[in-house]
Amino acid sequence: MKPINVGLLGIGTVGGGTFTVLQRNAEEITRRAGRPIQITVVADKDVTRATAITGGACKVVDDAFAVVSDPNIDIVVELIGGYGVAKELVLKAIENGKHVVTANKALLAVHGSEIFAKAREKGVMVAFEAAVAGGIPIIKAVREGLSANRIQWIAGIINGTTNFILSEMRDKGLSFETVLKEAQRLGYAEADPTFDVEGVDAAHKVTILSAIAFGIPVQFDKAHVEGISKLDATDIKYAEQLGYRIKLLGITRRREQGIELRVHPTLVPAKRLIANVEGAMNAVLVQGDAVGATLYYGKGAGAEPTASAVIADLVDVTRLATADPENRVPHLAFQPDQLADLPV
Ligand code: HSE
Repeated sequence: MKPINVGLLGIGTVGGGTFTVLQRNAEEITRRAGRPIQITVVADKDVTRATAITGGACKVVDDAFAVVSDPNIDIVVELIGGYGVAKELVLKAIENGKHVVTANKALLAVHGSEIFAKAREKGVMVAFEAAVAGGIPIIKAVREGLSANRIQWIAGIINGTTNFILSEMRDKGLSFETVLKEAQRLGYAEADPTFDVEGVDAAHKVTILSAIAFGIPVQFDKAHVEGISKLDATDIKYAEQLGYRIKLLGITRRREQGIELRVHPTLVPAKRLIANVEGAMNAVLVQGDAVGATLYYGKGAGAEPTASAVIADLVDVTRLATADPENRVPHLAFQPDQLADLPV
């Protein structure tokens, strides 16, 4: 069957992982998608690095705008990050009728409403499993697996870097700075690590989860955001002595007055499962009225775990793009008729 053509924008940690896993598991992925998923072109400002990673398997360019305008490209995978050029590229790709897969939580949390509206207008899909909790299929779980439920609340460890820092400070007595450097070396941290340590990255993610769970627009500006930079080894030690662990939690909850949206360090009783989530692992608790509490656990950052989510989206979008467009399930955070009248 004819391959679906993908243009990959950005081949850093996650882009490299995506390329590797797509090649390694090509047979299974093709079977699941119903046709081959082919990265036809990679755009990266470092053409030498991109050429080394792709090993001549596809075209490499330095102009990402050429990719989003290329008539041969069906799906654009945006792995550049940030709100700047990535926003222009995503909107341009949608304008040009391309489906988009993105891991860019910052972009969706801040400009999601504009992007989803544009995608609806153009009849294309925007998929973003990799934007929240790395390799854990939490978007799919909330949107599809729990679609029978009225979601009551979601609480989770959704930033691997800060969980890694808190775990290493507690277990090994290492300093905040030493562990942060290690998180950067391992490819967990954001380009600007203050987004991790100040809770901004977790707030981006919980904003997206909240939109899906409660059918509200993405409203990052309404989130209460507090990170871990003011914590020190003494706080961690005292929490331990009192029978608690400190975890940076992203929380969204349905209240009578509206939807709560917050990120802050939280004292969690040490016996709770979520208190024992260590290192860069993520865990998300979702409470639905029918199912009760459900817990999702896995790697929240890093090359291949995040690639796993990017490729799952590629498979979904390929299947849906190949199906009759009339019967396509929109791959968006929400539809206007689903919007609840709930202030944040
Ligand atoms: N910086 C993020 C984290 C990467 O540490 O969780 C994955 O979104």
